[in-house]
Amino acid sequence: MMSLQKLRAPLTAVTSRHAAFLKPRSFPISTPPTSSSSSSSMTISSSNPNNRLQQLHRQFSTTTANMSQTNNNFLMSEVFNVKGKVALITGGGSGIGLMATQALAVNGAKVYIVGRTQEKLDTVVKTHGQDIAGEIIPIVADVTSKSEIAKLVKEIESREKCLCILINNAGIAGNTQQTEAKTAEEMKKNLFDDESSTFDDWVNTYRTNVPQLFFMTMAFLPLLQKSSETHHGYSGTVINISSISGIVQSSQHHFGYNASKAAAIHLTKLLASEIAENDLKIRVNSIAPGVFPSEMTAGESGEDQKSHIEKDKYAKVPAKRPGKDQDMAGAVLFTAANQYLNGQTIAVDGGYILHAGA
Ligand SMILES: NC(=O)c1ccc[n+]([C@@H]2O[C@H](COP(=O)([O-])OP(=O)(O)OC[C@H]3O[C@@H](n4cnc5c(N)ncnc54)[C@H](OP(=O)(O)O)[C@@H]3O)[C@@H](O)[C@H]2O)c1
Repeated sequence: MMSLQKLRAPLTAVTSRHAAFLKPRSFPISTPPTSSSSSSSMTISSSNPNNRLQQLHRQFSTTTANMSQTNNNFLMSEVFNVKGKVALITGGGSGIGLMATQALAVNGAKVYIVGRTQEKLDTVVKTHGQDIAGEIIPIVADVTSKSEIAKLVKEIESREKCLCILINNAGIAGNTQQTEAKTAEEMKKNLFDDESSTFDDWVNTYRTNVPQLFFMTMAFLPLLQKSSETHHGYSGTVINISSISGIVQSSQHHFGYNASKAAAIHLTKLLASEIAENDLKIRVNSIAPGVFPSEMTAGESGEDQKSHIEKDKYAKVPAKRPGKDQDMAGAVLFTAANQYLNGQTIAVDGGYILHAGA
């Protein structure tokens, strides 16, 4: 066992090495006011290096004591605070977008949900927007069109001073093809000759899943930057909903979709980097979900705009189930609130990537 003497040795060495710095002089040290002192700053004369060390030690102890009074900062309501923030979520009318909408609105954010189908959005407001701390507001728009995006910006500008959270979630899956084949001819038949395998399918999927994130983010930059300027200690933030499909080595029967999601992940990094290069205080991250119930994965949603998928279908995933609303809610609140997260992709997948390989 190491002796106490040995443990102390480096400190002595450091003390003597730094003795030159500790030559007699006067310097101010901040101290907290005591009952006998009304000033929070006093001058200490330190002709003796050991005295100075003791004084520094006392000062350090005091700082540590003060830090323990900051426990309030560790409360969930502080760490994940989205109260009063303005958010916009594309595709907020179903699936993952709806989960994100509820996560933010229930915790006090004002959330604009955007989609192409008025009825879906209205159902969400009626079913999930009542008696909550925040608010859900529907806006119909197609976010694959630049002019519609520009109109959307005008609409938000007319109602709000800033936009704090932009979630680019709207996405489409495109067609699926059989990838398994025993011969080159069979693989060509499945993936080239098949009528559902077209350039248009790739382009449509890409249009919704990739450039949409780019144009939405660029169009809302000024409102996002205003959020950083308005809220001290907060930066406006963009969250792209990508997918583990952009990470795994399997095509999952849709090459075009998986390639588009890989592009969305890379685009997230490019956006975060270029925005930071321009000294704008806006964080850009991506959440890569595994399998969650949605209109995309279940093919439909119920009267409450919620979808359902059988647990057994995903028995191979280490979590042995699809993702739940709360799994996505936790990821959204973390990504929206954590001020030190930028340029990252967070996979929330119950271990899907572990199973599928990347
Ligand atoms: N569910 C999963 O397992 C899973 C896994 C990984 C990643 N994701 C990603 O999660 C995101 C959400 O998908 P989801 O699974 O929740 O499917 P979803 O229920 O089909 O949600 C997609 C939403 O986007 C909206 N939308 C589609 N195109 C739009 C457009 N051009 N303009 C405006 N809104 C549009 C749709 O509403 P309208 O049709 O009414 O416009 C719909 O509400 C997608 O990016 C998807 O790739 C999902």
